[in-house]
Amino acid sequence: METLTLALLGGGTVGSAFYALVQERLEELHALGVSPRFLGVLVRDKGKPRAIPQDLLRVEPFDLLEADVVVEALGGVEAPLRLVLPALEAGIPLITANKALLAEAWEALRPFAEKGLIYHEASVMAGTPALSFLETLRGSEVLELHGILNGTTLYILQEMEGGRTYAEALAEAQRLGYAEADPTLDVEGIDAAHKLTLLARLLVDPGFPFARVEARGIARLTPEALKEARVRGERVRLLASLYGEGGEWRAVVAPRRLPQDHPLARAPGNALWVRTRPLGEVFVTGPGAGGGATASGLLADLFRLLLGGPGHRPAPRARLPRAEGSPFSALE
Ligand SMILES: NC(=O)c1ccc[n+]([C@@H]2O[C@H](COP(=O)([O-])OP(=O)(O)OC[C@H]3O[C@@H](n4cnc5c(N)ncnc54)[C@H](OP(=O)(O)O)[C@@H]3O)[C@@H](O)[C@H]2O)c1
Repeated sequence: METLTLALLGGGTVGSAFYALVQERLEELHALGVSPRFLGVLVRDKGKPRAIPQDLLRVEPFDLLEADVVVEALGGVEAPLRLVLPALEAGIPLITANKALLAEAWEALRPFAEKGLIYHEASVMAGTPALSFLETLRGSEVLELHGILNGTTLYILQEMEGGRTYAEALAEAQRLGYAEADPTLDVEGIDAAHKLTLLARLLVDPGFPFARVEARGIARLTPEALKEARVRGERVRLLASLYGEGGEWRAVVAPRRLPQDHPLARAPGNALWVRTRPLGEVFVTGPGAGGGATASGLLADLFRLLLGGPGHRPAPRARLPRAEGSPFSALE
């Protein structure tokens, strides 16, 4: 049996869950002929309680070139980029859950993604199939895509439908640990915009810049606006949408009104709805966050890699869509 040396960057919610899941699934990894060994787990503070053996924790970057695979669950852009680039340059594959890194540091990472060295199923909708779901849709022409890609804002909107104000719903989300102390990335639609950028690159244009995604969040929505939508038989959701308009692809994150029986309006979690030709309409929904859910996406990528599959390569430019605009109107 071959030893598979893993370098894990980050031992927080996702990194710890990944470490635990690898231990839980050892038998299946052995059945593939490999015995995983962790080279080290990079963290900031060794003293924090976490379910990773102390002797694996590192507070100083260690030599990633000794690893067979780098798994990144640090978050942020600059620090992980500095760490993973030399490993990628040495041909070592990267599995990451970090959508901000991929969205914002694409110029540096794109050559490695095109070589099939970057696996990132967990970066969009955690372990719920999003990238592999879209890869299968490459056999069809994509006419439009709409997704609920941020669980925090979904929770806040669901609470506001129950009558809470935005501020009350946000405070409750923070109390329950669904929202960060600084919720800007979520509530301003930036997290969803990061994810939409990755989907656009996978489906329509490998060079789609993050700066081309227009993002509007939910912070200015009132319970009255949601009530008004309800009276009209509609629901408001923060949608990440990719559609054709004015002869080009537009990527827009905005609160939009949806018929209340639409699969996206009824989705209990993160969701993706895509209209294609000739396949038709397709839909997937599931958890989009949480340690275990995200670790399952990282592990799926590890299996993909061990079975000989390449990373998530961006698509060659797709022809421009015929459909014009979004069918779901945006709220001001
Ligand atoms: N949480 C989710 O549900 C979820 C879902 C999908 C994707 N993701 C993505 O997964 C990544 C990790 O998220 P998370 O929720 O696990 O975050 P987290 O709980 O804050 O964990 C981050 C880990 O990285 C370490 N770290 C951060 N910056 C570091 C640095 N500069 N040097 C050394 N160690 C550093 C932290 O060390 P300490 O523990 O010592 O502070 C911690 O162990 C992010 O990119 C996030 O967007 C998360």
